[in-house]
Amino acid sequence: MLANLPPYKLKQLKVVVLTGAGISAESGLKTFRDNNGLWEEHSIEEVATPDGFERNAELVYRFYNQRRRQLLSPDVKPNKAHLALAKIERVMGNNFTLVTQNVDNLHQKSGNKNVLHMHGSLLSARCLRSGHSSAIYSDLDHSNQCDCCQPTNSLRPDIVWFGEMPKYMPQIEECLSQADIFISIGTSGTVYPAAGFVSLANQSGAHTVELNMEPSSGYNEFAEKHYGPATEIVSKFVDTLLKGFNFD
Ligand code: OAD
Repeated sequence: MLANLPPYKLKQLKVVVLTGAGISAESGLKTFRDNNGLWEEHSIEEVATPDGFERNAELVYRFYNQRRRQLLSPDVKPNKAHLALAKIERVMGNNFTLVTQNVDNLHQKSGNKNVLHMHGSLLSARCLRSGHSSAIYSDLDHSNQCDCCQPTNSLRPDIVWFGEMPKYMPQIEECLSQADIFISIGTSGTVYPAAGFVSLANQSGAHTVELNMEPSSGYNEFAEKHYGPATEIVSKFVDTLLKGFNFD
């Protein structure tokens, strides 16, 4: 593990982590493409595209309301894998960048402060006219109005749907161009641009690591791979990573 890396000092290292639904699976949140995945009940076109929202906004509001309620239930807590990533941020500070495709808040709950939610957040609503985002902790529908426009306007879930531009892309690409280590956790590697981050990291000369239940679509692009449940392999990997470097 990490055998072919030069003898870095931890403070000089830049680490970028990308997470996907697999990291939250053991916290009780369903992934998108596993057997019981959400898409079996609803097609992507229905609930995760601007056209789907135009065709049946009620269904889309209901779908994300259900997910928000589940997220806010006391049963859904960060797991050992989320906690391990919070530990990296505590040790590395600004040299650690956490990018997530997840719309849950489990990284924040486990203690990560800088989280780039490239696909948006369940706990945010967006004004349909201005695009301004605001926090939301209850159900959302057409009756909720923004406080940024005059007259006020309707809000939509602040989720990046298919066909829309993910958030923070310039910042993420900048971090990837400087990365020494890129670690992809719990993602099937099927949705771009996130699925292409490993190529960008490889082009920057980073050591690339996949931690997932099974090989992802782009598994052969990673220099190092470990497969198993995130709660087991992520904390083990993080412990090795932090032990393997000189802290001076
Ligand atoms: P997916 O559902 O596509 O993939 C989840 C991955 O996690 C799979 O490769 C599983 O093998 C793995 N996995 C499942 N349980 C795991 C566990 N306990 N430990 C480790 N790995 C596990 O989810 P994403 O790759 O995140 O986009 O999906 C990417 C995007 O597609 C999502 O952000 C969403 C979706 O459409 C939008 O909503 C825009």
